[in-house]
Amino acid sequence: MKLEQRSEEYRAYVETYLQEYYARFREEPQKPLFQSMEYSLLAGGKRLRPILAFEFCRMCGADWKKAAPFAAAVEMIHTYSLIHDDLPAMDNDDFRRGRPTNHKVYGEAMAILAGDALLTDAFSLAATAEVGSLQDMKDAIGILSECAGSLGMVGGQVLDIMSEQRVLTEQEVLDIQTRKTGCLINAACALGTIAGGGSPAQFDAACQFAAGIGLAFQIRDDMLDVIGTQEEMGKGVGTDAGKNTFVRLYGLEKCEELVQKYTDCALAALQVFPDTEYITALANSLTQRRV
Ligand code: IPE
Ligand code: IPE
Ligand code: MG
Ligand code: MG
Ligand code: MG
Repeated sequence: MKLEQRSEEYRAYVETYLQEYYARFREEPQKPLFQSMEYSLLAGGKRLRPILAFEFCRMCGADWKKAAPFAAAVEMIHTYSLIHDDLPAMDNDDFRRGRPTNHKVYGEAMAILAGDALLTDAFSLAATAEVGSLQDMKDAIGILSECAGSLGMVGGQVLDIMSEQRVLTEQEVLDIQTRKTGCLINAACALGTIAGGGSPAQFDAACQFAAGIGLAFQIRDDMLDVIGTQEEMGKGVGTDAGKNTFVRLYGLEKCEELVQKYTDCALAALQVFPDTEYITALANSLTQRRV
């Protein structure tokens, strides 16, 4: 199946799934909360994390739709991280996913609460997944919370803020980016494999793939902050100028090489899967992405 065709199928499925999940709550009295959540959630991100969850589930030989509760949960956590990342107390950005940022429209209090609710609802949704055993569900919830929490994405965001005043070593930057971006990508690949009933070897391979793709993805994100445009990206550019990005550490040219190097490492981990044509095309397309 062609790259764009399958990506679009996955994207459309998770969007409908998320829409239907929140449609049930439309009559609740806390309407502004749901409006604020849906405003960011349904604003049309790339849906990379759900795509990865679906594809790993499929590569394990299962019906990819089985991964939907996990795929949607990771996307909800990712969306919450973006809403909070944009707040004035954090990156103070005005534009996200082609729209004014959540706090610009709904105010800071509602943006904070929308993030809180997306994070929490994600776990109640993830818990509805049909997996092979109770142990699989315990593993999935454990991975999701660890990847999102103080050792994972939130930990990375904290290190990112703490390091604004000084120049970091290569190892420190790698650690921050692995946590703040790599961890949720890891959760997507790992939970997709659990939903698909993958073997321990396939699970390890999914995590190794995620480590490489997570770094390649964040390096490209840092490059796009310099070479991208707001029209293409749907978010402000040049906003990370004072940050410890890979571009600041290595320069643009070396970054381009690193994106390919980490992508190649990621793909080399996938030999235990029988059909890697789509994921290979997807990973390679991300190295040149403009969005
Ligand atoms: C942006 O993520 C923030 C990072 C972790 C680099 P994406 O580039 O996946 O953003 P969306 O989901 O497409 O909006
Ligand atoms: C944020 O990294 C990663 C998150 C955990 C949200 P950035 O601050 O570089 O993400 P963008 O560029 O604003 O999307
Ligand atoms: Mg940030
Ligand atoms: Mg930011
Ligand atoms: Mg960025």
